[in-house]
Amino acid sequence: MASATIDTSALKHNLGIVRTRAQGSRVMAVVKANAYGHGLVPVARALAQADAFAVARVEEGLALRNAGIEQPIVLLEGVFDADQREAAAASRFDLVVHGAAQIELLRGAAPASFKVWLKLDSGMNRLGFDPADFPAARAALGALAAVRGPVHSFTHLAGADEPRDAATAGQLACFEAATRGLPGERSIANSAALLNLPSALADWVRPGLLLYGASPMPGAVGADHGLRPAMTLRSQVIAVKAIRPGARVGYGGAWVASRPTMLAIAAIGYGDGYPRSAGAAGSVLLRGRRAPLAGRVSMDMLAIDATDLEPAVRVGEPVVLWGPGLPVEEVAAAAGVIPYELLCGISQRVAVEGR
Ligand SMILES: Cc1ncc(COP(=O)(O)O)c(C=O)c1O
Repeated sequence: MASATIDTSALKHNLGIVRTRAQGSRVMAVVKANAYGHGLVPVARALAQADAFAVARVEEGLALRNAGIEQPIVLLEGVFDADQREAAAASRFDLVVHGAAQIELLRGAAPASFKVWLKLDSGMNRLGFDPADFPAARAALGALAAVRGPVHSFTHLAGADEPRDAATAGQLACFEAATRGLPGERSIANSAALLNLPSALADWVRPGLLLYGASPMPGAVGADHGLRPAMTLRSQVIAVKAIRPGARVGYGGAWVASRPTMLAIAAIGYGDGYPRSAGAAGSVLLRGRRAPLAGRVSMDMLAIDATDLEPAVRVGEPVVLWGPGLPVEEVAAAAGVIPYELLCGISQRVAVEGR
């Protein structure tokens, strides 16, 4: 019953905004995690103008190639065994190389198999070579027959959504020092860096969230940056119930009616990926107007205080959980999570449909 409609024209529009903001850079569209819940292959088709796609898993890249996607595909975490390496070579994937074992793995690959991005750990302490080890890793990689063309340089920022964070300046300085004068392309910027850090744009930007029309900045929404939400999450009212003042609603009776109340029960819950933690502060759109949630979100349902709706709410009416008119960022804030988590967290039960 719950469905997510994907507005492909919004995806294209958002790619246009990215291009305007990063005019000197090529765009590696980040489509991992089922394109942040929007549908991997349909999103890649909609973003045909992207210069490359980035995914986290070999399987994601294979799904793109099987669908006939011909752009470069970058594996953001590279490959971890010989089977993955061979699959990646056969499908012409580009690799991020972030650890010594991956360099060893590439020794066994056929000549000129891969374009490689060497990842510097400039301060996030997750993946990548420490600055002290970066030159040797680069030399080792550059000497491998499997590597096609120059070794390219890559890093990831931990706090680009907090532009005043001194650690971000430190990461940029670290990357600059490690890669100054080196041949090859460079890539640093995720969505937040694309918005906040012109010096991080480099040869390739790697937006994810912005393409889907949401903002990575605390307190902001996509529209603040000229973006349009690509996903509308919908369901419908499956029951309507008039309750008296004092009546308790839902698990734990966490919500108590303070007036004669008209409840609308909608067929969506945390089993669909709608956050249970939104129960206390969240709202939905009914007939385009905000209506607050009433009580705890259940697995398959949630209750809405529809008392203020005139004429009264009826079974079968559509309910919008997020989308145009109700930014996913707002739902995330009400739930105490980030919009990434909500978009990626749409469950199998939700039909994702293009438009
Ligand atoms: C290495 C890397 N680059 C870029 C991105 C895209 O990030 P965002 O969605 O914030 O633009 C991600 C996603 O987490 C990533 O892991």
